[in-house]
Amino acid sequence: MSHAPVPGPRSLELGARIAGVECPAFTHRRTTRAGADATDAAPIVLASGSGATLLDVDGNRYLDLAAGFGSVLVGHAAPRIVAAIAEQAGRLVQGLGDVYASDVKLALLERLARLHPSPGAQVLLAQSGGDAIAAAMKTATLATGRHAFVAFDGAYHGLGYAPLAACGFRASFREPFAPQLNQAVSFAPFPGLRGATVEASLAFVSDLLRVRPCAAVLVEPVLGRGGCVVPPAGFLRELTRLAHQHGALVIADEIWTGLGRAGSWLRSAEDGAVADIVCLGKGLGGGVSISACIATREAMRGWCQGEVVHTSTHAGSPLACAAALATLEALEEEALVARSRALGSEAVERFRRALATSRFVRDVRGRGLMIGVELDGAECAMKCVRGLLRRGIVVVSGGIAGDVLTLTPPLTIDAEALFSFGDALAEVLAA
Ligand SMILES: Cc1ncc(COP(=O)(O)O)c(C=O)c1O
Repeated sequence: MSHAPVPGPRSLELGARIAGVECPAFTHRRTTRAGADATDAAPIVLASGSGATLLDVDGNRYLDLAAGFGSVLVGHAAPRIVAAIAEQAGRLVQGLGDVYASDVKLALLERLARLHPSPGAQVLLAQSGGDAIAAAMKTATLATGRHAFVAFDGAYHGLGYAPLAACGFRASFREPFAPQLNQAVSFAPFPGLRGATVEASLAFVSDLLRVRPCAAVLVEPVLGRGGCVVPPAGFLRELTRLAHQHGALVIADEIWTGLGRAGSWLRSAEDGAVADIVCLGKGLGGGVSISACIATREAMRGWCQGEVVHTSTHAGSPLACAAALATLEALEEEALVARSRALGSEAVERFRRALATSRFVRDVRGRGLMIGVELDGAECAMKCVRGLLRRGIVVVSGGIAGDVLTLTPPLTIDAEALFSFGDALAEVLAA
């Protein structure tokens, strides 16, 4: 789908300028990963998008299977979202947060509260996924009076100080800041990761909760950044039962899995669990930054003590609320949750067939349009990311070992375009 080299001359020029002015962490990581092949690793610079198509500054066209790390849930420049943002921008861009709310914020709060399986749930709006997790951890602490948490190996909840303490994805993200982080976070094995079974995971959590009173168990219903690891059915339900038995709450981090991404509105509810707190983010704003911590009325009651709040200037901004409402409407009216589930399972089957003979492919898995292709190591995955990019397909790699290609396309993606990934990857692997 491209006509200039990838990256093209304009991307190379702008990429070098970005490297000059942006925090060096990103360029450092890119060049370290690329090793000797640093030129090949130079980034493209994006200019525009429509649906599941991206254009870079050189005019190259790409099929977007990453969709802003899964946040562009209903496609780039979706007319309904663009119209909602434009209408709201002409009416009221900023309210006065938690002092004087806006009408559109109320509409979103009511809509989000209804998503929680427990009637009467209440909502705390935040800006990023990590911000919603911080709000959830505070909610659990206030509700229980406890400070310890159980998190999971391979889990990723954001990089602010509260979620960073629970980051099982990469110890190197935590280590430089360790003395500043909550030390009372224990990491349990996640079923399906490094051979852990449900039984081993639940036994670990049970032993832990018996000796250490915890505020909450924080869990991703499907490990996202950790490599699209899907635990066996019923895990969330059993985990919730166990947590409640020991007076701990459950925080379901549905920032990646929720809103249809993993094929259901809430993956935790689908698995039979009523999590006390559910966090949403990523796709909630259709690409605009907004997140939510939705909790049972009982859990939220903890905030009614002394004077304690969790808020920020832009939390629940009318613009983001309008984008979120339009996204939720699109999901509902276009039946995109069911589409994600059906299209995702067909895509996994097709990818398995297309890649069956490649010795570099270890596994193809996922739920809904959250699909992981585990490859033979991180180097192989990086080569595929770059090879696919040259063929006009954008994907990112993830997994605790960096060896999983992670596909999170818009839920509106054309089916045949999505299926084309299987053959494209097979060609890259064979080259
Ligand atoms: C499951 C999960 N939780 C939380 C986060 C953090 O979200 P954000 O990057 O918006 O802070 C992410 C981001 O990838 C995520 O995948």
